[in-house]
Amino acid sequence: MKLNNNLEIPQMGVGTWTLRNEEAMNNVCMALKAGFRHIDTAQMYENEAEVGQGIINSGVAREDIYLTTKVSPPAMRQGEKAVRKSIDDSLAQLNTPYIDLLLIHWPVKDAVKFTWQIMESYVQEGKIRSIGVSNFNPHHLEDLLSYADIRPVVNQIEVHPYMSQVENIAFNHSLGIQIEAWGPFGQGDIDIVGNPVLQSLAKKHNKTISQIVLRWIVQRGLITIPRCRPKHFTENLEVMHFSLSDDDMQAISSLNQNHRSDPRNDPENFPW
Ligand SMILES: NC(=O)c1ccc[n+]([C@@H]2O[C@H](COP(=O)([O-])OP(=O)(O)OC[C@H]3O[C@@H](n4cnc5c(N)ncnc54)[C@H](OP(=O)(O)O)[C@@H]3O)[C@@H](O)[C@H]2O)c1
Repeated sequence: MKLNNNLEIPQMGVGTWTLRNEEAMNNVCMALKAGFRHIDTAQMYENEAEVGQGIINSGVAREDIYLTTKVSPPAMRQGEKAVRKSIDDSLAQLNTPYIDLLLIHWPVKDAVKFTWQIMESYVQEGKIRSIGVSNFNPHHLEDLLSYADIRPVVNQIEVHPYMSQVENIAFNHSLGIQIEAWGPFGQGDIDIVGNPVLQSLAKKHNKTISQIVLRWIVQRGLITIPRCRPKHFTENLEVMHFSLSDDDMQAISSLNQNHRSDPRNDPENFPW
């Protein structure tokens, strides 16, 4: 999928939140061997070193992998020096000469402007290829766009059948900003598998409920990064190879309840 700076991002990636130590390293390595080419991490996940080692262990060339990490909110709270250190640490921990995409993880109050400007300077230096945001509501974006020299390429937000984010997504798309859907399965905390609409669509298409959910996301033109273990790799990759009808898409969109998997994930409530 093309970004507003003409660089490409694979629409289907793999998330790494909660994965630590050997599990993080092995999951990244196996995901790349299985065919994924897009890995999502964050400084806050405390697994960047293992993600970097997993990439090396996979044997897949670095230039064939799309790697995302995020600036840590605690660093943003501490100020400019800490933000620079956070980015330098991410580069060192990931053991990579460049990061494909660096995101502001959360819109930390009074810290977004200087963080964005520092991120822009890393793009100029060639250490970061693209920059974007995460968990930004429209007013956060409008504020950032009032001073940004570089437009964010993506906004990574919570999207799943009970949190469809129709207006927020349309707003971002109208600005040429792609959406990355995090928590496509509601982080495993909400009952998607038991939903009768999704069950009947899974039966109709001879797919799993998870595949129906991921297909609804990618068919909306969104990027997504489900966290998954090897037993779900093929299932999730196969989502790129079938289609839902307009009625099917509408039936899933009508499940929306503006329900977050965790109420603390409302960007207006940040910091928790
Ligand atoms: N920007 C942010 O603030 C933010 C916040 C949260 C997450 N994220 C990113 O988004 C990624 C995804 O979100 P998430 O990890 O919170 O939750 P998620 O992807 O919604 O849910 C992960 C759960 O879904 C299961 N799963 C994956 N594929 C499956 C399949 N085909 N069938 C059945 N179950 C399946 C996984 O089980 P198995 O492990 O057994 O496969 C895991 O338990 C994160 O890992 C992280 O990289 C970003």
